[in-house]
This record gives sequence, structure tokens and C-alpha cells, in this order.
Amino acid sequence: MAAIAIFDSGIGGTTVYDAVRERAPWVDIVYVADHAFGPYGERSLDEVRARTEVLARYLASAGVEMIVIACNSASAAALQHLRASLRDVAFVGMEPAVKPAASITTTGVVGVMATGATFQGELFRSLVGKHAEGVEIVEQACPGLAAAIEHGDDVGPLLERYLAPIIEAEADVVVLGCTHYPLIRDAIEHRLPEGVEIIDPSTSVARRVLDVAHDAGIDLKGSASTRWWTTAPDEDRDDDHDWETIDIPESGKEAVRVCETTVVALAGDLTAMPVDAIVNAANVELVHGGGIALAISRAGGPTIDEESHRWTEMYGPLEPGVAALTSAGEMPSSYVIHVAGPIHTAGQDNEGLLAAAVFAALDMATEIEVKTIALPAISAGVYGYPPDEATLVIAESTAEFLDEQDTTLRSVRLVGFDDAMATRFAEAIASLTDEL
Ligand code: DGL
Repeated sequence: MAAIAIFDSGIGGTTVYDAVRERAPWVDIVYVADHAFGPYGERSLDEVRARTEVLARYLASAGVEMIVIACNSASAAALQHLRASLRDVAFVGMEPAVKPAASITTTGVVGVMATGATFQGELFRSLVGKHAEGVEIVEQACPGLAAAIEHGDDVGPLLERYLAPIIEAEADVVVLGCTHYPLIRDAIEHRLPEGVEIIDPSTSVARRVLDVAHDAGIDLKGSASTRWWTTAPDEDRDDDHDWETIDIPESGKEAVRVCETTVVALAGDLTAMPVDAIVNAANVELVHGGGIALAISRAGGPTIDEESHRWTEMYGPLEPGVAALTSAGEMPSSYVIHVAGPIHTAGQDNEGLLAAAVFAALDMATEIEVKTIALPAISAGVYGYPPDEATLVIAESTAEFLDEQDTTLRSVRLVGFDDAMATRFAEAIASLTDEL
């Protein structure tokens, strides 16, 4: 895995990426754009903090050693908290360059362009308190600007509006306090009076990345590779990057990366999931009479029962540790993989049996070369497995399988039919990441 992850709500962090790449051409980098949840700037600090934490945990589980939060908004919301909660990862964050700006202004007026979230954070207040005594700071929040840059829209009218107060106050230095803004530096420069200095912190952040890596003993020698990860696919995205989608739901439920595969918890209807395969919590006779099995047989149509019947006619009852395969009929997935979890019973190896069912499902998925799969809380309904324990066994055995086996799977969704069950899965996944 890449040593460094560079992360932003979208493409803004590429300004930092370019600067790091220039100084360390050999380093392996994973660039992460949270397109599904960005822009961050107009969200509350709490929302941005929660989301940034989910992504940072995900990146830590993927094995990166350093996370560069190339986003002022996310740094304002989460940096301090992340440093305290993920101690094995080195963090570098961003802050508006108030200090250098205050030291070079001759008019005594500095304009700062940033998102609303960045201005709300304590970090910004403390920067001004510490470094800008006697300097007038024109705080210019720029709602909509990062989004316009992200979509390649005309930024002219927004810039006219946001630069006016800065120009009027006669600022001679303008700080680009959002990593998206250097991407339109020319358009900004062009609208400012001659001689106004623009401060883009990308270069100094890149220097800091190398210093922190050095101090933390992180070896940056790699093969100069970059992976481009996004949380939301978009065919029309107009850049040269080869984006890989990582499956992190917008609701911010927990997600973990095990080798090349993402495991996420979410709530929803398994039968409606657009994945390659769904797993059925079946009974040994493959008679789909209740719970998830009934929902699957209803949503898929008669073929599910017909194929299941043919399967048991050929092979007999479904043994623990064996998976049966049918088509998915009218559901959006292509296959249903049926496994029979244990009926929770005192004196039997419930955990071993449930883990065997999970392994059987993931094994079958690998055999038929499936990339995305969704599993329910097997055995946690009428089979009486305590839900807290069942979800933990399912999450742990999934992680174990992914860690040990060579698999085609790239995304495993652990699906609770309601929020309470999804939360149990999320907690189970969080306990996996805590073991990091
Ligand atoms: N690029 C980000 C920043 O530096 C945030 C832009 C946004 O998502 O609103 O603040």
C-alpha cells in the first residue's frame, strides 16, 4: 500500500498532490476524493469531523502510514481529534496561511478566502489571535466556489462578488485558504489590483509532508505510483485520472479496507442492492419461507424457488460450510449465494458454524469471480443468534477471509435491514479498525 494518502472533498487536494509529487517523485501515493460527501465547506463542522474520521480510519485500515488532509475545512473540523484517536498514523493538515501573510503585508490588510467551515473552526481563530495582531483580516467565505471549480463551471461571477470586499479594504495580500482555489489562481490574480500578493500554501505543505515523514521514520521510497480513489463514480468526470470507486456510504457508517477490499456497514434492502451477488440467510432445505429468505424469493420471482428446489434435489440439504448458487431473477444483482447459518443452540460451536457460512459465501463469490457482494446478519433473526455477537462474527470472519484468501472481491457490504442492525455491523467494523 502507498505510504501516503492525500485526501480532500474533491479535486482541491490535487494542488497539494502536485507539490508533493514534485518534491518526492518516487513516493507511492493514494489520492482520495470524497466526491460523495463533498463539498465540505458548507456542512457543519460536526458532520465534516465525523465523515473525515470514517475516511481516515478507512485509510489507516488500508495500511497507509501518513494521511495528508489536503483540505482546510476537514483540517479545521477534525485534525486535532484524528491525531488523538489514530495514533499510529502521521497526519499533516492545512491551515490558512495567516502567519506569512501578516508578516508581509504593508497595507496592514490581508484578505483570506476560505470556506464557511474553515472560518468556523477554532484553528482559524487561534491563527488570527497568534499571528495577526494589528493586522486587519478580511474573512471572505466563498460558498459555491469549490463546487463550481469541481464542476468546471464559470467562476467569474462568484469571484467578482467575493473579491470585492477584499479589494475595497485595500488588502495587499490574499490567502488562498481552500485547496480548490489555487486551481483558479489565474482568474483570481486577473481580478485583483496589480501588486497584490497571493499566498498558496501547497508548496509549504509539501515540504512539511517530507519533514514529518522523515521525523516519523516513514520510508517514502516507492515506485512513483498514484492511485486515484473516489467515493462516488461519475462517468463524466472530466480529468485524466483513472478513478477507482471505494464503497463508503454517504451516511458515514464505518468502513474498513482489508487488502484490496472495502468492507462497509449499511442499512437497507438487500434485495434492491446493485451488487454482483447477494447472500441469502437460508435454511438447510432451501425453502424460503420467512425473513430475508422470503424477501429474496419474493423480490427475485419464481425462479429463486425453482432453482433452489433443483439444487436440493441434486445435492441434498445445505450443509454448514457449503454454499448454493442460484440466479437473482428480477433483482438487480446477478446471483444469490445461499448459506445456512446455525440455529443458535447451547453446547454447539455457534461461532464456528456462522464463520463457516460466511467463508462458504465468500468462497463461492470468489469462485464465480464476483467483485461486489452484500451479506445480511445471518442467523440473527429467528435463528436466535444474539445480534451483537452474530454481526461481530460475520465482520471478523469476513476480514479473516479477505486477509487470507486471494479473492476477486473488492467490496463487501454488511447490510442491516434496519438502522439498529446496521449500527451493530458498523460497531463490529469499528472494533476491527480499533485493532489496527
Ligand atoms: N478543498 C477544501 C478546503 O480546502 C474544501 C472545499 C469544500 O469541500 O468545500 O477547504
